[in-house]
Amino acid sequence: MTISEEIKKIEKQIEPYLQRIQANELYNQKKVLEAFQKLAVSDSDFNPTTGYGYDDYGRDKLEAVYSSVFKAEDALVRPQISSGTHAITLALFGVLRPNDQLLYITGKPYDTLEQVIKSDDRKGGALEDFGIEYDYVPLLDGDINMKEVEKSIQSNTKVVAIQRSKGYDSRPSLSIEKIEKAIEELRRIKKDLIIFVDNCYGEFVETKEPLEVGADIIAGSLIKNPGGGIARTGGYVAGKKELVEMAAFRLTAPGIGKEIGASLGMLQEMYQGLFLAPHTVSEALRGAVFSSYVLNSHGFRTSPSYHEKRTDLIQSVEFDTAEQMIQFCQTIQTQSPINSHVVPYPAPMPGYEDEVIMAAGTFMQGASLELTADGPIRPPYIAFVQGGLTYAHVKLAVTSAIYSIKNDSPFYM
Ligand SMILES: Cc1ncc(COP(=O)(O)O)c(C=O)c1O
Repeated sequence: MTISEEIKKIEKQIEPYLQRIQANELYNQKKVLEAFQKLAVSDSDFNPTTGYGYDDYGRDKLEAVYSSVFKAEDALVRPQISSGTHAITLALFGVLRPNDQLLYITGKPYDTLEQVIKSDDRKGGALEDFGIEYDYVPLLDGDINMKEVEKSIQSNTKVVAIQRSKGYDSRPSLSIEKIEKAIEELRRIKKDLIIFVDNCYGEFVETKEPLEVGADIIAGSLIKNPGGGIARTGGYVAGKKELVEMAAFRLTAPGIGKEIGASLGMLQEMYQGLFLAPHTVSEALRGAVFSSYVLNSHGFRTSPSYHEKRTDLIQSVEFDTAEQMIQFCQTIQTQSPINSHVVPYPAPMPGYEDEVIMAAGTFMQGASLELTADGPIRPPYIAFVQGGLTYAHVKLAVTSAIYSIKNDSPFYM
């Protein structure tokens, strides 16, 4: 059987799950298109501003488009927001004040947030350095442990944070339905909580976003889902007007907030990226379902499984040996459009106890809406495989990587 015939056979098996993703794509594309139409986006909105960036109508309109898509009162969408961690930092620092408590209810947050929240030596300017208290409640069997959450909520708990995607953890990601249930409970426990959702990797995977099920403020990165593989940098914070303004005061300066911030020449790609995002996310998700099915059928454990509903882009694959995992990642790199001639090797990385391998032949540095495969080299040998600007590319790369591991016939179409 040729690879093309094999791919056809696999796609027959996963057809209903691919269709489910395409149905969401259609819904989300309509939502984005209608926002563009409602706000009458025109090519003059792409005009750059310089200096302070006062009266940057294109920037303001882009923020209105984001507000419409995410059902937010307001949004801050800027190229000056450098990463997901930066966007989340703006939201948390913007809203919290000394003696308030921040409570994460989805276990410890993603690694890079550790230093944003916790103080090692009082020099970093972490939230704790400013007298903000912090606690977290671990998940119980992959779900929010509401009993413990209720016990942990204090009179000074101001922000409850939910991380939608598992990131590089081994727990399941939290669906919008689960987030909705948790928010209902939280409102019952304490009405005035500010509920923050780290939306990284989640945008346009389901048909609703966290603000639609009661969250107050969300944040994410444009080199992930909402940049559509086109935006070269940027991040967003969206939600209640007053809270977004507080985040904007942290990005620029108190009292100035959203009024300044030159867009330089970035607006066209930010608009175009958002327009393409539902499609690119769909391509990546179909790639993830394909990868999950085909890797599982070759004996590797995959999470989520190909038939499970998804709420983010992350696909984990457990290999039997370190050698298999390394070979998989190295072959993904050979099948990348950029740096296909470069061989990734496991190496020490700050913040990790074990060596980490990273295959990322991406147009945008570190962009995980593009196909990447990485993970720490330790048992169980789990690689995180995600993204893919085109479904066809994921099929080619993953099939090729499996052939390489299995030492089967050489890869050809
Ligand atoms: C769930 C989650 N939140 C936040 C981040 C941080 O994003 P960034 O790497 O853009 O700072 C990540 C990164 O992968 C993540 O997975």
